[in-house]
Amino acid sequence: MTEKMYPPSDDFVAKAHIDAATYASMYQASVDDPDAFWSHEARQRLDWIEPFSVVKNTSFDLGKVSVKWFEDGVLNVAYNCIDRHLETRGDQTAIIFEPDDPETPAQHITYTELHEKVCRFANVLLAQGVMRGDRVVIYLPMIPEAAYAMLACARIGAIHSIVFAGFSPDALANRINDCGAKVVITADTAPRGGRRTGLKSNTDAALLHCSDKVRCLVVKHTGDQTTWIDDRDVDVKAMMAQVAPDCPIRPMGAEDPLFILYTSGSTGKPKGVVHSSGGYLLYAAMTQQLTFDYHDGDVFWCGADVGWVTGHSYIVYGPLANGATTLMFEGVPTYPDASRFWQVIEKHKVAQFYTAPTAIRALMGQGTKFVEGSDLSSLKVLGTVGEPINPEAWNWYNDNIGKGKLPIVDTWWQTETGGHMITPLPGAMATKPGSATKPFFGVQPVVLDPTSGKELTETQTEGVLAIKDSWPGQMRTVWGDHERFEKTYFSDYKGYYFAGDGCRRDADGYYWITGRVDDVINVSGHRMGTAEVESALVAHAKVAEAAVVGYPHEVKGQGIYAYVTLMNDQQPSEELRRELEAWVRTEIGPIAKPDLIQWAPGLPKTRSGKIMRRILRKIAENDYGALGDTSTLADPSVVDDLIENRMNKV
Ligand code: WTA
Repeated sequence: MTEKMYPPSDDFVAKAHIDAATYASMYQASVDDPDAFWSHEARQRLDWIEPFSVVKNTSFDLGKVSVKWFEDGVLNVAYNCIDRHLETRGDQTAIIFEPDDPETPAQHITYTELHEKVCRFANVLLAQGVMRGDRVVIYLPMIPEAAYAMLACARIGAIHSIVFAGFSPDALANRINDCGAKVVITADTAPRGGRRTGLKSNTDAALLHCSDKVRCLVVKHTGDQTTWIDDRDVDVKAMMAQVAPDCPIRPMGAEDPLFILYTSGSTGKPKGVVHSSGGYLLYAAMTQQLTFDYHDGDVFWCGADVGWVTGHSYIVYGPLANGATTLMFEGVPTYPDASRFWQVIEKHKVAQFYTAPTAIRALMGQGTKFVEGSDLSSLKVLGTVGEPINPEAWNWYNDNIGKGKLPIVDTWWQTETGGHMITPLPGAMATKPGSATKPFFGVQPVVLDPTSGKELTETQTEGVLAIKDSWPGQMRTVWGDHERFEKTYFSDYKGYYFAGDGCRRDADGYYWITGRVDDVINVSGHRMGTAEVESALVAHAKVAEAAVVGYPHEVKGQGIYAYVTLMNDQQPSEELRRELEAWVRTEIGPIAKPDLIQWAPGLPKTRSGKIMRRILRKIAENDYGALGDTSTLADPSVVDDLIENRMNKV
């Protein structure tokens, strides 16, 4: 990676919320006295029904890991995101909705309208018997109702769990069952890139595997025909028209869960990451304002899906807590053609634009002619998230979208962290392409030696990335399994939160994320556990064994490489390959479909039967020189066979 520095312009710095000197002093204050720092921020940024007296109460000690912030404070998240803005911003647009089809008019939903919609939605939930603490699964496309549903839950103290609309019925059923949801909210069909996905039919299929008490709330979005089960299915829009337009807020403890979001890890099934009401909201709001240098009047566009944490924090909670105008886009970057992002920026005069490197690479591949026709002069800050950005993509973004003038914030964070952890603050730091730069306030990153677990204290160093102390946006637990929470994040390196990423710190103290060091891969900015894909593959009757690893992919960042050993009586064929691809799509969803399947008569295993993934990774990466010691394998000859038959050679 190039180490060239890109400082912000003087003009930008003059208007920015945070300049270099302010960053330095605030950062110091945030780690010297976290209680004073966060107490001040929480009082400034949020409205409390009952003020808190305790600020931070956290422990990273294995066996008694506990994360609590503002624990005796009482507030309501929906109130903070809507009601408190009504007096001053009632007529301001809260949400701009840009539909999949550019011919369909955009919607501008004011804070007053948002208030009414959310209240009505909340009353629909109450009418279904949803109570404080109940779980509500949301399986919706990128439509305003997704935000209404989230905020309606927050209003009445229910806990939402959004399932990305690209997940299969099986994946949906697993999540409904794991969190014990009372209700699932879906839509008839979801248009994306001109095609439609049957979300209601997926939900019907999922509910076959769930308790028959689960109610199904259906948003009739496209009006497409769906099946209807009278005593289970509820027409949300029709009900919303009937219920009262106002709904009182439910006072909630700062530590009451706001939402659960399932995410992939190294092992087992996805875990339900639990986020809090007070600390999470504070952290989402503060990072949205400062990382993007958001100012009143700006139109903010985070291009993620609400099904991922990025959408939670930077489409809904962060921007709305700040009284911002946030854009929700239903479509895809390449429909009707590869100019769509830039057209939307021009149309709505977007000031801050936030996307994933994979989208940039996909658009880069289409050439600059799709950018040239759009007026991008409204832009002030660009952002990226989800995976390391390669220099080509960074330069393309900088040259063509930023016109060489805009700060690019490369934000490193995770579902678990709630908000940005290592990120430039655009008026405070010069950026280096590919580096997430410096920690956000209160975040104390450390680089650890992967084997000894010792902190590497030299400025310039490389190892695994861990965090030394808690921050308000940190996840609180794994839903229903606190032990798994402790084991996953606090047991490898005692006393630290271990992120699962490798990193390098350069001579200027800048952090460079080098990618996951566990069995999690990052496909098109989507996080995927290789174990999940493996268990889907082995669930197929013709598959005896499977091992899945990531490999470098030009557009997706990483692709999914599956080694498959068939049952004795099966022969490899193109047809079977397609059958397995389709199988994984239905088991998990299209995002998990293997990019490459290699037939493997045997997998490299140790004598105790453990699959040597390191070797499989190297073969997938075409890096045979670095296979390391294979002499401990039960049958070293399988490696030769795998190399001989590596996918791109056949
Ligand atoms: C990766 C997404 C490099 C990282 C918000 C992390 C990144 C995982 C960056 C979390 C970045 C995220 N540079 N890598 N700027 N941002 N990652 O939970 O491996 O979907 O652990 O959260 O994405 O993915 P998740």
